[in-house]
Amino acid sequence: MTTYREHYQSAMTEPEQFWLHQAHRLPWFQPPKQALQQTGENRYSWFADGQLNCCYMALDYHVAQGRAEQAALIYDSPVTNTQQHFSYQQLLQEVRQCAGTLKSLGVGKGDRVVIYMPMIPEAVIAMLAVARLGAIHSVVFGGFAAHELAIRIDDATPKVVISASCGIEVNKVIAYKPLLDKALALAEHQPDFTLIVQRSQLPVELVEGRDIDWHDALQQACPAECVAVASDDPLYILYTSGTTGKPKGVVRDHGGYAVALNYSMEAIYGVKAGDVFFAASDVGWVVGHSYIVYGPLLAGCTTVLYEGKPIMTPDAGAFWRICQQYQVKVLFAAPTAFRAIRKDDPEASLLQQYDLTALQSIFMAGERLDPSTYEWTTEKTGKPVVDHWWQTESGWPICANLMGVEALPVKPGSSSVPVPGYCIQVLDDSGQPLPANQQGNIAIKLPLAPGCLQTIWGNEARFEAGYLSTFPGYYSSGDGGYIDDDGYVFIMGRTDDVINVAGHRLSTGEMEEIIARHPAVAECCVIGVSDELKGQLPLGLVVMKNGVQLSAEQLEQELVAMVREDIGAVACFKQAKVVEKLPKTRSGKILRKLLRDVADDKDPQIPSTIEDPSCLDDIYTQLKA
Ligand code: COA
Ligand code: AMP
Repeated sequence: MTTYREHYQSAMTEPEQFWLHQAHRLPWFQPPKQALQQTGENRYSWFADGQLNCCYMALDYHVAQGRAEQAALIYDSPVTNTQQHFSYQQLLQEVRQCAGTLKSLGVGKGDRVVIYMPMIPEAVIAMLAVARLGAIHSVVFGGFAAHELAIRIDDATPKVVISASCGIEVNKVIAYKPLLDKALALAEHQPDFTLIVQRSQLPVELVEGRDIDWHDALQQACPAECVAVASDDPLYILYTSGTTGKPKGVVRDHGGYAVALNYSMEAIYGVKAGDVFFAASDVGWVVGHSYIVYGPLLAGCTTVLYEGKPIMTPDAGAFWRICQQYQVKVLFAAPTAFRAIRKDDPEASLLQQYDLTALQSIFMAGERLDPSTYEWTTEKTGKPVVDHWWQTESGWPICANLMGVEALPVKPGSSSVPVPGYCIQVLDDSGQPLPANQQGNIAIKLPLAPGCLQTIWGNEARFEAGYLSTFPGYYSSGDGGYIDDDGYVFIMGRTDDVINVAGHRLSTGEMEEIIARHPAVAECCVIGVSDELKGQLPLGLVVMKNGVQLSAEQLEQELVAMVREDIGAVACFKQAKVVEKLPKTRSGKILRKLLRDVADDKDPQIPSTIEDPSCLDDIYTQLKA
C-alpha cells in the first residue's frame, strides 16, 4: 500500500486483515488470531486473545534484536545542566531494578501505582517498570497541586506512589515532596509506600516506614521479569479534565495501544527503528505517554526527554539546539511552544545557528494550530509542518497527514484527514449528519480504532454518559468543527466546558466549583478567552452576595489564590471580574458563548431566549476595563 486512500480503505473495509497485519509486526507472547471482538452494546475489544507485555516490546525485545547499545533515551535538562544517554540495555537494567523494587513492595498484576514526577529519566523508568509487572500506572502531571493529586490517589487507590523531592521550573525549584505529603493528608486512600527520587537540588526528609529512597531501593532490588497480560488488560489510567471537578480516568489497554502506536510511528510520523524522536511535552500528558515513552520505544527509536521550556532555558533556540545535537528526525510540540519561540525570536535568528538537516518534519497538536503559527514555522524552518488532532481519550492521532505513507497537500487550519481506523462524521445537535463545510459536533462512528479508551476507571456510567449516549452508535468527541469537500477535517474548538491553556486541558467547570466555595460569591462562571500566546486563558465572572464588604480587587486576589492552591499554577487563572448579573436564558442557562464572544471582541449574537439583555451593558464595561 502506497497511498493514504489505500491505507484508509483497507482499514475500513478489511479491518481484521489490516489490524492483524499491524499486530503481527510486534513481538507478542501469544499473537492474536482475531483483531476486533464486540463484547457488549457499543463495547469492543482489540486483539482479545493476544498475550503481551508492553515493556517487553519496548525494551527486552530490542535488546534481543541487537539494539542493546543504541540510545533508547536521551535526557536533556538545561535547568540542571545535565545531558545523559541511556542505551536500550541500560534502560532495561534500570527498569528491571525498579520493577524488582515495586514487586518487593507488593505491587503485582492489576495493582495501581501513581507517578507524580518531574521530567527526569526515573519517571520513564517507573512507567515501564509498572507495565513490566502487569500493574497499572497513573501519571499525574507535576504542575498539578496537592488537591488534584489527592483526587487521583483516591480514585486510583494505588499501592505505591512514586515521586521526587523536587521539580525544576525556569529559575525556581518546585518542592514536590510537601505537595505529595499534603495530598496524602487530604486523601482518604493511603498507599502502602511512597518511593522518592532524591534530587540534589532539594533533598528532603523521608517518613520512616512509608517513604523509601529510590536509589537505595533500586540498588538492593532483585531484578524482575515481564508478566504476560491479556491485550485488553489496563496498561494505564490517565486523568483528564471533564466538565466537572472530578477528572475522568481514561483507561488504556495494552494490545490495541501498542499496535496503534507502532503503526503511527511509521505511517504518521515516518520514522523507523534507530531514528530520533523528540516530543516536547510532559510525561503527565497523553502526548508524553504515547510519544515520549511508548511509541518511540516500541518502534526501536531514540526518544528525547527534555526538562526545559521552548524559551528561557536558556533561549528560544532550545528546540533547534536539541534537533541539531541529537540529530532529531521528528519534532513534536504544542503550537503554543512555537508561538512562544516566535514571540522571543520573531526572525528566527537563533535557528540560523543550528544545522537542522536531519530534521524531517515538525508535528503539532494539543490545541488548534492557527494558520499564522503554521505559516511562520513553515517559512522559518523550511520543514513540513503537520497539524494533527487527537485527545487523551484516543491516545494517538484521529486526524493527521500520514507523512510515512503519502504527504497530502496541506490546508492551514485543518488537521488534515481521518487516520485509518477512524470514521469521522459531523453531526447536528439531534445526531443527523451534516453536509460538507457545515459546522457541527465531531463524532466518531463505533467501533473506535485500536488504542482508544476502553472506559473511565471505576465509572462505566460516566463513560456511557460522557461519550456514547449523546449520539447513539458514535463516540462524541466534545470538539466542534467541519469537514470540507476534500474530506479535510477542521477542528474549531470544544463544545463543552473544557479549555486549552498552553496546550494543557483544563475544566472551567472545575474552576467554577472552586470559586463558588468562596463565601462572598453568589454565582459565577468561568470562560476561556483567546490569548495570543497560550491559545486560551480562563476568565472568571462573579456575582457577589448582597451586603458583602469586600473590594472587587481583594475578591479577585483571593479567588486567584484559591484556584492556584487547588488546581495549580498551570491553570493560569489570573482574572476574576465582578459583575452585577450573569446573562442567562429564560430557563436559567448561563450564556457562555455570548460571554466568550464579548470577551474576544467578536460580534456577539444575542439569542432571543436571553432573560435580561440589560445586564450586558455592565458586562461589556467590566470585560473591557
Ligand atoms: N511543575 C510545576 N509547575 C509547573 C509545571 C510543572 N511541571 N509546569 C508549569 N508549571 C507552572 C509554571 O512554573 C508557571 O507558574 P507561575 O505562574 O508561578 O509562573 C505556571 O505553571 C504556568 O506555566 P506555563 O504554562 O508553562 O507558562 P510559562 O509562562 O512558564 O511558559 C510557555 C509559557 C508557552 C513557554 C509554556 O506554557 C510552554 O512551554 N507551553 C507548551 C506546553 C506543552 O508542551 N504542552 C503540550 C502538551 S501536549
Ligand atoms: P488532550 O486530551 O489534553 O490531548 O486535549 C484534547 C483536546 O485538545 C481536543 O479535544 C481538542 O479540543 C484540542 N486539540 C488537540 N489537538 C488539536 C488540533 N490539532 N487541533 C485542534 N484542537 C486540538
